Amino acid sequence: MDAIDLLLREHEMIRRMVDVLEQYIARVDSGVEQGRHELVLLVTFFREYVDLSHHEKEESILIPALVRAGMSWDSGPIEQVRKEHNLERYLTQALRHASLQAKTWSVHDRKHLVDVARSFLEFLRNHMTKEEELLFPAMRERLSAEALEDLTRRLRRFEEAREASGDAEITRRLAEELLERFAPESGT
Ligand SMILES: [Fe+2]
Ligand SMILES: [Fe+2]
Repeated sequence: MDAIDLLLREHEMIRRMVDVLEQYIARVDSGVEQGRHELVLLVTFFREYVDLSHHEKEESILIPALVRAGMSWDSGPIEQVRKEHNLERYLTQALRHASLQAKTWSVHDRKHLVDVARSFLEFLRNHMTKEEELLFPAMRERLSAEALEDLTRRLRRFEEAREASGDAEITRRLAEELLERFAPESGT
């Protein structure tokens, strides 16, 4: 499994959790869901797994490798992806605030949460598709076999550190718990 497969596998995991968030939000929108517990778990997952791990790998390992191979840091696809990571952090923060609100959600709070969450879902799906169409193919096109191997090694090392710290286990458990509660009808 090389760097591209590793990152694609993470996108797969993120998409599953985006689907879970979509289901949760549909319940909030229809007034069925009153609880915030799942939202806290989801936000924790998106912060820990997407921001602090996946995007960190893209920003501190993948993008520098592509820049070394001649891609521009401050224009084109890399600039777009970097800007999108900032927007993703902002949207995650907005969801986090909703999840931490102590008082019961008003109709307005609920609508605001649904709007923010739907923007987040759509944004994240488009972001991953963009990376798969623009950024990931550049790994094969621009990186030498050695550079791709080095990239794969660095990504693995990052993951080993997450395993050693226990962070990887935390996000795995969060994902398992959420997937159990929101099992997709098709079953995976
Ligand atoms: Fe990304
Ligand atoms: Fe990504």
